Amino acid sequence: MNGITRRGVLKGMGAAGAVAAASTLPAPYVRAATPIKAGILLPYSGTYSRLGEAITNGFMLNLGKSGDMLGGRPVELVRLDSEAKPPLGPSNATKLINGEKVDVLVGPVHSGVAMGMAKIAREEEALTIIPNAGADQLTGVLCAPNIFRSSFSNWQASYPMGKVLADRGTKRVALIYWNYAAGKQAAQGFKDGFADGDGEIVTEIGVPFPEVEFQAALTQVAEVNPDAVYVFFSGGGAVKFVKDWAAAGLKDKIALHGPGFLTEGVTDAQGEAAEGIETAMHYADTLDNPENKAFRAAYADRFGKNPDVFAVQGYDAGALLRVGVEAVQGDMDARGDLYAALSAADFASPRGRFRLSAAHNPIQDFYLRQVENGVNVVKGIAVAQLADPAKGCKLA
Ligand code: BEZ
Repeated sequence: MNGITRRGVLKGMGAAGAVAAASTLPAPYVRAATPIKAGILLPYSGTYSRLGEAITNGFMLNLGKSGDMLGGRPVELVRLDSEAKPPLGPSNATKLINGEKVDVLVGPVHSGVAMGMAKIAREEEALTIIPNAGADQLTGVLCAPNIFRSSFSNWQASYPMGKVLADRGTKRVALIYWNYAAGKQAAQGFKDGFADGDGEIVTEIGVPFPEVEFQAALTQVAEVNPDAVYVFFSGGGAVKFVKDWAAAGLKDKIALHGPGFLTEGVTDAQGEAAEGIETAMHYADTLDNPENKAFRAAYADRFGKNPDVFAVQGYDAGALLRVGVEAVQGDMDARGDLYAALSAADFASPRGRFRLSAAHNPIQDFYLRQVENGVNVVKGIAVAQLADPAKGCKLA
């Protein structure tokens, strides 16, 4: 990264000024005049566009706490639409890392995009903060010193609801999910939690991503008539699924559950159909802590709408970056100290305590929530301080 930082200085100051400055000014002064470039790779179009927007807003809100400066340096965002298309992950990551010479990569939302993006980030040893994508491997077998997550692993986000239903003695459960890494890993997390009881998974239905034609799945589930259905959908797909579920007359017959993505940021669009849906998540709108209250007020004030879990993850990506950059006083080349500070981060987040496992994935409480008047209301803790098993990670 030495070369990259130097090139950034030359570009930022103009060649003549930079040469003069570089020869006369000590490095910290040159650095202070050079923006930290954050490459943001998120979906700004398609079914996950709301998630991309909320994460970006949360990230900007956190940076705004210090006038868009970190470690004495201005922060500049370079945004790229990931389109939630996995084949574009590697080329978009290359564009940001090698083309734009960003100091940190922030993204993505989609697990498939994340796998491609992380391959390049690993090869280039680029600092990366994942503010959503839950692909288990990225803080498991493919964990890396330069890759950190401010969100969750797919397994981690679905284990808690499985455990809650097992503890309740729920007997017959059907699974419906978008048939890609996130949906499949969510299904596995749920099954692992549910295995604590004596219930069974009666059917499992995969829907191709990002398809929102759910009629065949709903017909199949109605025929099986389970006690509960656990689903993985988010963004535009979650809006459509919940409305279709109610329209099919299943709302008052079969209990519908999911990881909280099912109702996060979309209850306005889902309307009455979302009422009563019970989910588990590492955040809830009504969490009663000072950080959450301040965060929600500041977010509503700046963006004119309520935040959701995705905004929290973006906000905490900013908070995590802040911890690292401040520890090295803006010197992004001080990799050892930067990574050590990020790994040891421990701060108060709107979700509660934020800290990372040795694999760089948050260890966090998962709350049981229920939609009441369009709000994801916290009902209790489903599983406290849950860590992802981080299978195969050698960082510890
Ligand atoms: C994922 O692809 O990892 C993902 C997307 C949306 C919500 C949660 C997870």
